[in-house]
Amino acid sequence: MFGQGSLVSSFLAAVLAFTILIPQAAAFWRLPCLNKLLVERNDPIVSPGAVAGHLHTIMGGNGFNFTMDYQNSRASTCSSCTVKQDLSNYWIPNVFYRAKNGSFFPVEQIGGATIYYLQRADTPEEKLKAFPPGFRMVAGDPWLRNNTSVSGRTDAFTYVCLDYSGRSNQYTEFPNRNCPSGLRVQIFFPSCWNGKDLDSPDHKSHMAYPTGINFGKCPPTHPVKFISIFYEIIFNTNAFKDQWYDNKQPFVLSNGDPTGYSLHGDFINGWDIDVLQKAIDTCNSASGVVEECSVFKFFDQNQSQDCMVPPRVEEQTTGWLEKLPGCNPIQPGPERAIKYTNCGAQEKIGAPKKYYTDVSTKNWEYVGCVMDNLTSRTFPEREDFNDLTVEKCIDYCVSKGFEWAGMEYGRECYCGKSAPPQDRMGYSRCTTPCAGNDNQYCGAAQRLSTYKAKGPNSNTFGTPK
Ligand SMILES: *[C@@H]1O[C@H](CO)[C@@H](O)[C@H](O)[C@H]1NC(C)=O
Ligand SMILES: *[C@@H]1O[C@H](CO)[C@@H](O)[C@H](O)[C@H]1NC(C)=O
Ligand SMILES: *[C@@H]1O[C@H](CO)[C@@H](O)[C@H](O)[C@H]1NC(C)=O
Ligand SMILES: *[C@@H]1O[C@H](CO)[C@@H](O)[C@H](O)[C@H]1NC(C)=O
Ligand SMILES: *[C@@H]1O[C@H](CO)[C@@H](O)[C@H](O)[C@H]1NC(C)=O
Ligand SMILES: *[C@@H]1O[C@H](CO)[C@@H](O)[C@H](O)[C@H]1NC(C)=O
Repeated sequence: MFGQGSLVSSFLAAVLAFTILIPQAAAFWRLPCLNKLLVERNDPIVSPGAVAGHLHTIMGGNGFNFTMDYQNSRASTCSSCTVKQDLSNYWIPNVFYRAKNGSFFPVEQIGGATIYYLQRADTPEEKLKAFPPGFRMVAGDPWLRNNTSVSGRTDAFTYVCLDYSGRSNQYTEFPNRNCPSGLRVQIFFPSCWNGKDLDSPDHKSHMAYPTGINFGKCPPTHPVKFISIFYEIIFNTNAFKDQWYDNKQPFVLSNGDPTGYSLHGDFINGWDIDVLQKAIDTCNSASGVVEECSVFKFFDQNQSQDCMVPPRVEEQTTGWLEKLPGCNPIQPGPERAIKYTNCGAQEKIGAPKKYYTDVSTKNWEYVGCVMDNLTSRTFPEREDFNDLTVEKCIDYCVSKGFEWAGMEYGRECYCGKSAPPQDRMGYSRCTTPCAGNDNQYCGAAQRLSTYKAKGPNSNTFGTPK
């Protein structure tokens, strides 16, 4: 039924043009991932227990870790993707701008990601399966640097140069033109399983593409058809539109690929299997609207937006970088890229980065990241400081006789007499540096880094014993 033309473009046509009569087999849902969970050299599939070779943008459940199994996924307490019964992780390499002087700057990822779950049964009798517990896979080849047409590659790994006021074209490599509405990275995963292995040494050969890549028959070696997954992630390359040079596109993937051919993606199953199977069997909406699938429950949007894992690899990944994190010199190909090691990159997994300050000498303690509300403030007293630090806000609150202090949006200090309402607690994206100290964190927009006096012995009431 999707038998002619480019598969991904027929898929795009089905999504974008609502004029087509969509067959039953075109049922799908779009899983929104509202934010990234983590940006780190972390890849529990390819480099378990170690610092990964290159930087990734990771979405999904906060059970994500350097080493992890299905139980860890299921123990997630939030996910940056909104369906509550899905605690999977989804990740891809990052995109960087490379300046003429050889320095790099991360390209902002717009929003999170959209993960398409597509019911692409080959015949009405074919029953699609949910991924089993412990299942994981990789799609794509990080070492590829040319347009080799290995099975389905050019259809499965694509870039769409977005132009919301013009025409959006699709490419197999980084397009050599500016994309006014951003660059959309797209990965179609294989959907045919060998029926026994949850993973394989290359993390790929337990899976295969069906004949049509994103539809069709599975090969006899891989007879079990799963639901298909497809990632869409948008990078704001347009922010660099005035900084092109030498007549060629200036973007690279985090593994040092300036061509884009090495685009790859990873998936670790964290679904409640019964729920996924039920959704596959019963959610046959062709609109893609995830809320139309009645078996799904959803995280509060703010909880998904805030869901994060603190990084544990101590290296710079933001701002101007002299080289890409890890050992990733630019390798333009066309020959296969070589693996470099021992370049002095950080290889240690350290303690989780702390987004709070130890204020025990003041006999205060960090409570957590709390949601604020512009029309109904969490704490009544407010004072702004252009040189705000955590200590400065606490001292201010102490001087006014308060036991609670919250720092918001870098320079706002709030004080209160009592604990914030329970439904405002439990957030985590308090990651804005304090105006007066880059190494401390003072909340974020409508988020309060919240501290409290440690009871009656605190400075508020006198000298601690
Ligand atoms: C990740 O693993 C470490 C130990 O290897 C553990 O201490 C930590 O709690 C784990 N993180 C999560 C989010 O499960
Ligand atoms: C490289 O160029 C960019 C601007 O294009 C600049 O911001 C950056 O500081 C430069 N890096 C070095 C190491 O000179
Ligand atoms: C790469 O190969 C695909 C499929 O053969 C083709 O459509 C595409 O135009 C090629 N890209 C380039 C830049 O030659
Ligand atoms: C989430 O927070 C935003 C502001 O940060 C607010 O506008 C929105 O209403 C909140 N939603 C919920 C469900 O709390
Ligand atoms: C293209 O890439 C393939 C796979 O990495 C490699 O085997 C081949 O040698 C490359 N072609 C050229 C011309 O380098
Ligand atoms: C903020 O507070 C107002 C007034 O209490 C309330 O109507 C609104 O829903 C609140 N917004 C959020 C995001 O909680």
